[in-house]
Amino acid sequence: MKIYVIYDSENGHTEALAKAIAEGAGQENAEVYLDHVDNAQIRALVDMDAIIWGCPGHFGTISGGLKNWIDRLGYLWAEGKLIGKVGAVFCTTATVHGGIEATLLNLITPMLHQGMIIVGLPGNIPENALYGSYYGVGVTCPIEASPDDPPNLPSEAELALGRSLGKRVARITRKLTGNQTS
Ligand SMILES: Cc1cc2nc3c(=O)[nH]c(=O)nc-3n(C[C@H](O)[C@H](O)[C@H](O)COP(=O)(O)O)c2cc1C
Repeated sequence: MKIYVIYDSENGHTEALAKAIAEGAGQENAEVYLDHVDNAQIRALVDMDAIIWGCPGHFGTISGGLKNWIDRLGYLWAEGKLIGKVGAVFCTTATVHGGIEATLLNLITPMLHQGMIIVGLPGNIPENALYGSYYGVGVTCPIEASPDDPPNLPSEAELALGRSLGKRVARITRKLTGNQTS
């Protein structure tokens, strides 16, 4: 079972979440690939069983870096190459009301156009019962007081949400593909 985690990130906030998601998928014995969008391989998507992509929210929606990359997937759409693959999404924003859910929903839309099967994060996952991140994992990382300060990375509880998403994607992908090992 192969899972590709692709992320955009300028200052490491979304990257930290991406790494937690990859870690969770790995704990379920998935073969996990993790790339910044600048290095992400479009051709490799065809060989994946699941694809998880995420970004910082920019003006309430997908960052330009990831959107440009997603817009290069047209030929995969034309050939139906991603139909039936499992998909999930994640994002970080600086503010709670600055478009976190809109960004997650916008990240899901192109997956649906590609015919992918979307996996979210239900409320019976302990880390999510009070958090309520149902469309994927959305984390608020408050802006640093000064550009010289270290980044306000996701908390341990938020990274646990990320690991839960990675695990859930891996478990559901295993069920769908019948792939019992890696
Ligand atoms: C161009 C730009 C637009 C942004 N727009 C928003 C926004 O609409 N809402 C918000 O809460 N944060 C916004 N942010 C802040 C980032 O989403 C936030 O700092 C994020 O955690 C950065 O993640 P990264 O370090 O992985 O790039 C914006 C940042 C940039 C650079």
